[in-house]
Amino acid sequence: MEAVKVGLLGLGTVGGGTVTVLSRNAEEITRRAGRGIQVVQAAARDINKPRNCDTSGIDLTTDPEAVVNNPDIQIVVELIGGDGLARDMVMKAIANGKHVVTANKALIAKHGNEIFAAAQEKSVMVAFEAAVAGGIPIIKAIREGLAGNRIEWLAGIINGTGNFILTEMRDKGRDFADVLKEAQELGYAEADPTFDVEGIDAAHKLTILASIAFGIPLQFDATFTEGISEITREDVTYAEELGYRIKHLGLSRRTDKGIELRVHPTLIPERRLLANVDGVMNAVLVMGDAVGPTLYYGAGAGAEPTASAVVADLVDVVRVLTTDPENRVPHLAFQANRLSDLPILPMAQVQTAYYLRMQAEDRPGVLADVTRILGEAGISIEAMVQKEPMPGSDKASIIMLTQRVEEQSMNQAIVSLEALSTIDGKVTRIRMETLDAS
Ligand code: HSE
Repeated sequence: MEAVKVGLLGLGTVGGGTVTVLSRNAEEITRRAGRGIQVVQAAARDINKPRNCDTSGIDLTTDPEAVVNNPDIQIVVELIGGDGLARDMVMKAIANGKHVVTANKALIAKHGNEIFAAAQEKSVMVAFEAAVAGGIPIIKAIREGLAGNRIEWLAGIINGTGNFILTEMRDKGRDFADVLKEAQELGYAEADPTFDVEGIDAAHKLTILASIAFGIPLQFDATFTEGISEITREDVTYAEELGYRIKHLGLSRRTDKGIELRVHPTLIPERRLLANVDGVMNAVLVMGDAVGPTLYYGAGAGAEPTASAVVADLVDVVRVLTTDPENRVPHLAFQANRLSDLPILPMAQVQTAYYLRMQAEDRPGVLADVTRILGEAGISIEAMVQKEPMPGSDKASIIMLTQRVEEQSMNQAIVSLEALSTIDGKVTRIRMETLDAS
């Protein structure tokens, strides 16, 4: 049977990796898909640029429209990134009746509802395994492997750059800015690194994970997002001393009042496997009611790991090219007309435990004021440590771990604490999760 013809939009790191993997593993891929998969055309901004792949036999063009309008091409692979040109090209490809494979998390998180509706209309597939956690087949695992479960919650380290920064701060005592610079040089970081450190990239990915876990529309704008740029070496060290690691987590949980959707630095017990996912690696922990906790670990970025997911999607699309569109795996795991309207829980109503650090005058009565304020807000203290003032300072650091409480109670308590004349500056608050099986 003739090979399925594929067009690439973007021939950068992941595009090059995709060409290489398709070529190197052509025989195995053909045995799996039932047909060959051949890249016939690729659009790149500069077609004369040196590549990380062999482009012989591929028609190179600077015009992405040439690819999406090419009548020979059945599947368009979108690797442009962002949600401007990429969105226009994906919508055009769909309108032209082509299937789409994309690694673009921002595009799916922000415009997925519209894209999937258009794809449904035209009976084409939009596959996006590479958009979340790079090479980890987490979309397939949740959408198909866990289809018998009611998913209770999921928590993931889904940004490699942020995890690399936190790991280096902990292991080598390095400063935030210094490690970020190295991550950029290594090519892990987004074009705009604030997407990594402020949690936007993780929020894109979490939005997608939550939709396929709970069968809700994509709701990127409702995701609570807090970055890691305020995390200090002291917090990393104090967390360690208390038996915790700080990880930048994406968390989504089903509650009676709605779905939690949040990205923020989180203290987790050091004995958890997730706490030991270091460097640029990603991992997602998914709790299903039948299976219990399951953990998926692997490379979340890079040319071939991401290409691994892109090629898997290509194989999937090729396998089902001739099947009845009504009987394909739904884009968001649940049938498009059976998505749930469960609300996203406002962050003020989310319940979690907290790590607090404040700089306090080292004299009698100060701690009493602090504990009185927490007590009045209904916040129970789990552990407390006082650190000697740093050289040149007369303020001691008070570190507290609290029990679970609603975020709005903690917000009020922090306002009152910061108003005390004996407390210097801002109170640092880092949320804390046990991630146990309950
Ligand atoms: N900047 C992303 C990361 C790349 O660091 O994880 C993969 O999405």
